[in-house]
Amino acid sequence: MESAHELISDLEKLSGPQLQHFVIELSDKARAEAQQSYSNEQQDQFLQKWYGREPGLAWIVFDKTYAKDRSAAAWARYGLQNLFKAPADLYINYGILAEDPEEAFDHLRYFLKTLIARANHPERFAAVRSLWESRNQGIKTAIREHLLKNAKPDIKPRVGQYFNQLSSLVEELFAQKQLITETDGVEEAALARERVDLSLPGVIRPVGSHHLIRQVFQEIEDIFVSIGFSVVEGPEIETPYYNFEALNIPEFHPVRDDMDTFYLELPPSSDKKAAPTPLLLRTHTSPMQIRTMEKQKPPVRVIVPGKVYRRDNPDATHSFAFHQIEGLAVDTDITFCDFTGTIEYFVKQFFGPSVKTRFRPSYFPFTEPSVEFDVSCPFCGGTGTAAAGGTCTKCKGAAWIELFGAGMVDPAVYGFVNYDAKKVSGFAFGIGIDRLAMLKYGIDDIQVFFQNDVRFLRQFP
Ligand code: DAH
Repeated sequence: MESAHELISDLEKLSGPQLQHFVIELSDKARAEAQQSYSNEQQDQFLQKWYGREPGLAWIVFDKTYAKDRSAAAWARYGLQNLFKAPADLYINYGILAEDPEEAFDHLRYFLKTLIARANHPERFAAVRSLWESRNQGIKTAIREHLLKNAKPDIKPRVGQYFNQLSSLVEELFAQKQLITETDGVEEAALARERVDLSLPGVIRPVGSHHLIRQVFQEIEDIFVSIGFSVVEGPEIETPYYNFEALNIPEFHPVRDDMDTFYLELPPSSDKKAAPTPLLLRTHTSPMQIRTMEKQKPPVRVIVPGKVYRRDNPDATHSFAFHQIEGLAVDTDITFCDFTGTIEYFVKQFFGPSVKTRFRPSYFPFTEPSVEFDVSCPFCGGTGTAAAGGTCTKCKGAAWIELFGAGMVDPAVYGFVNYDAKKVSGFAFGIGIDRLAMLKYGIDDIQVFFQNDVRFLRQFP
């Protein structure tokens, strides 16, 4: 029977007619095996092997057939019926041949018990039930027709008794089993409903992260806060006074050309005589120098992160909106040394301790003297040569990278905020964040900061 076992494992692959053939052949094998099991022990082994729990070959075939599909079950029906009926037919034959069919009934009882015990799901249960009750093919009918009706008159009452006992036992077993299968079903359904499948992947809620620009802001803020600066923010819509005049940039000053910006069209004022005050999008964070000093007496130590705007055409290094951090420190005796020391501290914190700084003279209307701060190229170690040879692409061989503008606050600016230019001194700087972020993280197109493509953003969690 090893071969049958092997065949059963391939049963899913059989076509309908093949399946029919296979099951009929199998039922013949079962029949033959039943006939060759002479002792009670052999019978028991045979029943368990085919219809019981070790392993219950007939049940395996039954389950696999029903799991296949309806038409497969139809093809296999006749064979299955034979397969399940084989022992009963054999025992009934024994009974016909015996003087007293008591032993045949014992076998039948044991067989039916074994079967019903394994009828533990609705399809199996229904199959066993019809195997017993079916009017034409059922075991009950077969017993009645062959054992009861043909019994010799002297033992007929006894056979009737055996039959009744067997019937009521089987009914009882069915009733018990039905109860179990039904409650099993109820419980199973309830369990299925309430089942929590811990292996299911959860709902993944993507966790966002700060935009790289926000991260760089944070990094710079942390550095300055650690040396006593506080963070303030100001309006993105400014008046020309704060954006230009109070910063010592009068109306026709040429630097205004570099800072052409967006003006806002305002609804006409109800006061007809009032001169219209144009409003603009700030071109830098420097207006907050004025606003801060107007509000507060020295000492002042602030940084101002924020968005700024210019009428620039977008390209790899220009955008009409970008980001700056303004810095301002004003006190009674701030020197140029304090200024360069502070800037150097910041640059080394930001790029690493090995970089060097330098400044070159420059011009801003609101600082005097004005400087442009450079850092030794952090990527080639200030050599201008890439590690792999050739010119460093970051500093383009210059060994230095221009960082930002700064300077000592021009005394003229103090005049706008009622500070005594003779008593106070200070420094200011304006850092372009986008440029710094591009430098530090090797990004060559400023536009990626504004496109917000998650494939880019995800690289900076
Ligand atoms: N506001 C200047 C700009 O946007 C940058 C700047 C330069 C700011 C020098 C400063 C400074 O505070 O001192 O181009």
